[in-house]
Amino acid sequence: MEVRRVAVLGAGLMGHGIAQVCAQIGKYEVNMRDVEQRFLDSGIAMINDSLARIVRKGILSEEESKKVLARIHPTLELNQAVQDADFVIEAVTENPTLKKSLLMDVGKFAPSATVIASNTSSISITEIGAATGRPSQVCGMHFFNPPQLMKLVEIVRGLKTSDETVELVREISIKLGKDPVLVKKDTPGFIVNRILSQALNEAVYLVAEGIATPEDVDKACELGLNWPMGPLKLLDYIGIDTDLFITEIMVKETGDPKFRPSNLLKQMVRANLLGRKTGRGFYDWSKQ
Ligand code: CAA
Repeated sequence: MEVRRVAVLGAGLMGHGIAQVCAQIGKYEVNMRDVEQRFLDSGIAMINDSLARIVRKGILSEEESKKVLARIHPTLELNQAVQDADFVIEAVTENPTLKKSLLMDVGKFAPSATVIASNTSSISITEIGAATGRPSQVCGMHFFNPPQLMKLVEIVRGLKTSDETVELVREISIKLGKDPVLVKKDTPGFIVNRILSQALNEAVYLVAEGIATPEDVDKACELGLNWPMGPLKLLDYIGIDTDLFITEIMVKETGDPKFRPSNLLKQMVRANLLGRKTGRGFYDWSKQ
């Protein structure tokens, strides 16, 4: 199947980066859809910022970066975003009800041959596939933040995902410059989040129990484990709400208390201390 146009649903922390990566390789026109103009504007602003960094490094010229932007078509209309797309990448908030209802509509509006990938971090691909009404053409395609830099894509096979769909997602991932892994069975958290959610949780417990400051927990992991950023900085980077969604799904789906989120994480979400995106989480990001 020849993919010419990709629709990316969601222009947030992940969606904008995925849209940029798709537009950057020069093979695809990209429809980028979000539900409010301010979210589209902020997505385009983040893309501009990222492209400016890439131009500064000499990887792209100023002219090429303008062409990348011109290949991205922002829209508020779902129908407009998917009606001529060969491939859809869903990257909206990690909320099962929202995702399923959106994907049900994608199933109605997208051409029958269109393959649908979801960037979900933890929601069942089999469940998402069922919502679209075309489960054999649905696959997990899990990018990592920031998608412009991180090489990994987890390709996740749902119970009814066809071999052709997995192969197409693998081909596209490689074209995007990624190095994919295959998650052979649909399982909560896939590979990375099954490991990471427990590590991040433990970091929050260390702070909540007054054992160490966020700065020292991060320093310990940065200097002792060579992590590029400590777990609390990473939580602020991913979004505290996104991490809470992931851990809650892990607990619900596995019933295993080892994934249970700290109360501090819940309180931070209630207080809108979501990390970088609201200017404050474990750290103050308001000046960045
Ligand atoms: N676009 C383009 N370039 C970018 C960029 C972006 N969005 N973000 C950073 N960069 C560039 C910077 O310009 C900088 O370039 P130079 O080296 O030329 O100056 C370089 O990347 C390094 O950036 P910084 O100096 O700002 O900071 P850093 O050295 O800490 O690197 C980082 C930033 C790459 C994000 C690094 O900290 C890192 O790898 N952090 C861990 C990220 C991670 O673990 N991601 C996975 C999260 S889990 C997830 O996403 C899955 C999930 O489901 C929750």
